Amino acid sequence: MGSGRFVDSIRKKRMGMALTVQEIQEMIVRYVAGDIPDYQMSAMLMAICFQGMNDEELTTLTTAMRDSGEVIDLSAIAGVKVDKHSTGGVGDKTTLIVGPIVAACGVPVAKMSGRGLGFTGGTLDKLESIPNFRVSLSGDEFVRAVRENGISVIGQTENLAPADKALYALRDVTGTVDSIPLIAASIMSKKLAAGSDKILLDVTTGSGAFIKDIEGSYALARRMVAIGKGAGKETAAMLTSMEEPLGEAVGNNLEVIEAIRTLQGNGPEDVKEICLALAGMMLSLAKTKEGETALSFEEGKEEAREALESGRAFAKFRDMVQTQGGDVRYIDEPERFEKAEVTEELAAQADGYIVKMNTEGFGIAAGMLGAGRETKESTIDNSAGILVKKKTGEYVKKGDVLAVCCGSRPEQVTRALAYLQDCIVIGPQQPEPLKLIVDIIS
Ligand code: URA
Repeated sequence: MGSGRFVDSIRKKRMGMALTVQEIQEMIVRYVAGDIPDYQMSAMLMAICFQGMNDEELTTLTTAMRDSGEVIDLSAIAGVKVDKHSTGGVGDKTTLIVGPIVAACGVPVAKMSGRGLGFTGGTLDKLESIPNFRVSLSGDEFVRAVRENGISVIGQTENLAPADKALYALRDVTGTVDSIPLIAASIMSKKLAAGSDKILLDVTTGSGAFIKDIEGSYALARRMVAIGKGAGKETAAMLTSMEEPLGEAVGNNLEVIEAIRTLQGNGPEDVKEICLALAGMMLSLAKTKEGETALSFEEGKEEAREALESGRAFAKFRDMVQTQGGDVRYIDEPERFEKAEVTEELAAQADGYIVKMNTEGFGIAAGMLGAGRETKESTIDNSAGILVKKKTGEYVKKGDVLAVCCGSRPEQVTRALAYLQDCIVIGPQQPEPLKLIVDIIS
C-alpha cells in the first residue's frame, strides 16, 4: 500500500491529499480479496465523498475496478461498437428503441444492461417482461446474436467489475452513494469492462435523476468523459431532462408497449426526440463518411430517423426478441400483455397549468404499485405502473385525469394514488417549455 498501511491512505485522503496509482490499485485488489475490512473501506469512501478525487486518481480507481473482473472482448464482432448508458430515469425505455435504430443503421449493438435501482427502472426488467425473453446468454451466444442480427441486449455477466458490486453494496449502507466521483467510477468501470469501442452517456438531470441539480449533472458528465478519455475510449455525454417522466408509461409492460408504439411510429414525441438524438450521437461516434470524416450529429439523427420511420428499427427489435427466445406474438400484438387488475384515475384538484412534476415521486409511486423491487428478493409485477396522461405545461380543468395507477391490489393502488397527488403541482402561470436535450459534452 505505498507505505503499506491502509489506515495511512485513509488519513491521507481525509486530509485532502491525492492517492498514488499504487495506493489506489492495491486498495481495490486487497478489498476484493477480502484483505481490507468493510469498516476501513467505509471510512475511505466517506473521505472520498468529502474530499473528492482528481482526474488521474479517478481514472486509476475506475480502471482498477474494471480490471477486478472480466473485460469483455468484442473483437469477434466486426465494426465499431458503441455502448450507451443512462444514469437512470423514470419511464426511460430509450435502450429498447435506440439499440434497434442504431443496429438498423449498420452499427453493431452489443449491450449489457442493468436492473432497476432505487426509484429508477432498468432495461433488463423491461425486457424480461416479454414472455420467455432470455437476458442471460453465454458469451458465444451473445457474440453470435450480434453478428447475425446486429444487436443483443443481455444482463451483466457475474464477473463484470466485481469491485463495483462490492463497493456499491457498501456505499448503499454507508450513505456514500451520491458522490459524483464514486458514481462516475462505478458506472465507467462497468462500461469500460463491457468491451465497446466508444461510449455515449445519457446523463439525466432534474427531479427524476440521481443527481438532480444541473451543476452536479454537468460535473458527473464531465468526470465520466474524462475517465473515458483517460482510459483511451472515446466518450461523449448527453445531458437530458428528467423533470418529468419520459413518455406516457412507467412500469415494465407499459413501457415495452410504448417502445413498440414508438418503433412503429406512434410513440410520444418526447420519447421519439430523445431516442433520435441518442441514436444520432451514437451513429456520429461510430460512423465515418468517405474521406474518413466523422458523421455529424445532424447527419446521424437523419440516418436514425430514416431507420425509425421506414420500420427497419422495429424489424431489428423483433429479430432481437426472437433470437433471445422472447414470444414475438407479444410484439406483433401488444394487447396480449397482461393488464393490471386494479386501475384508479388521479384527477386534477383545480384548474390551471401543470407547472412541476416530482419525477422521483412517480418512480416511488410505481414502486408502491409493484413495478419495482422493495428488497433484492422482491418480484416485480410486470403489469403494474403508471400511465401519465398530462405533462408539464398542459392546461387542465378540475376533474381531468392526470394519471392512471395500475396495480393488483386495491389498497396498493389507493396508497400510490394518494402519494402521486402531491407529485403534480398545478398553478395559474404556464411554465417555460422543458428543454429535453440540455447539452452535449464530447
Ligand atoms: N449507477 C451505477 O451503476 N452506479 C452508481 O453509483 C449510481 C448509478
